[in-house]
Amino acid sequence: MAKKLKSLFEDAFKKLKKTEQVKKYSLKAEIQQDFTQEDKEKAGWTSPAYTKSRTVKLNMNTLADNRCVAIFPYAQETEVYKVLRTQVLRYTKEKGGNTIMITSALPGEGKTLTAINLAFTFAKLFEQTVLLVDGDLRQQGVHKCLGFENDRGLADYLVDNMPVPEIITWPGIDKLTLISGGRLMHESTELLGSARMTDLVHEMKTRYPDRYVFFDVPPILTSADALAFVPLVDYVIMVVRAGTTPANDVKKALELIPQEKVIGFVLNRYNTRMQTNPAQP
Ligand SMILES: Nc1ncnc2c1ncn2[C@@H]1O[C@H](COP(=O)(O)OP(=O)(O)O)[C@@H](O)[C@H]1O
Ligand SMILES: [Mg+2]
Repeated sequence: MAKKLKSLFEDAFKKLKKTEQVKKYSLKAEIQQDFTQEDKEKAGWTSPAYTKSRTVKLNMNTLADNRCVAIFPYAQETEVYKVLRTQVLRYTKEKGGNTIMITSALPGEGKTLTAINLAFTFAKLFEQTVLLVDGDLRQQGVHKCLGFENDRGLADYLVDNMPVPEIITWPGIDKLTLISGGRLMHESTELLGSARMTDLVHEMKTRYPDRYVFFDVPPILTSADALAFVPLVDYVIMVVRAGTTPANDVKKALELIPQEKVIGFVLNRYNTRMQTNPAQP
């Protein structure tokens, strides 16, 4: 078993994808093109769900400050997320599946940022819609990073039976919808593994077959949330903070989740001065 895991881990590291250290992005003319709602509807870029969703307007400066840069077409980091997108697309087109959770071994490795930038990158493709869900109910980060008010979300659906259309937010970005965390939860493991959550994931997965659903999920080693949630999704992307996360912790985390579900690694905050094997125990 130990041998098998060692080789899995080594293979995994060979597959690590680099996301370059994201620099503060200067805002010039690269802000997302400003199509009107009518334009989008004509072009088939809005799904009926959007019209029922709450709309929030994202502030481009906030996005840039918080490194949510994949919305800017010419940001150099956008290319890195496109590579990840291509790999996810290739995998899911070949094997099926459209629900993907983004997790890591430990907190602060860049899960939320990766989930947001990946969702932006997928939303730029014409063929499908994207839903990003904040499933980290203890450390909700999606609304903070994107800079909108989290007055409703997943927890409100799970605890208070708030109807699904009411928890969906449209951030004014083509083909992207969001579900933020909602009310703060300190005991979320049972909720994430609940029958209501299962129903919701099923609904998200099947309602629009061309939709990718990304879940920003808590770290694997600090609570049971990610493990409770993993049976509900098709795939897992693991974020590893370069030079910081001990290799042993990545190994331990990998041992706990089904290996066949892990479709990719993001080596976050990698920079070229780092050695080729950055995560030392
Ligand atoms: N590649 C990166 N370069 C610079 N800062 C980053 C990078 N990735 C994440 N961060 C910052 O690190 C902090 C933790 O990232 P976050 O995505 O919230 O982690 P997690 O969701 O895993 O806890 C945030 O302040 C975020 O802006
Ligand atoms: Mg987070």
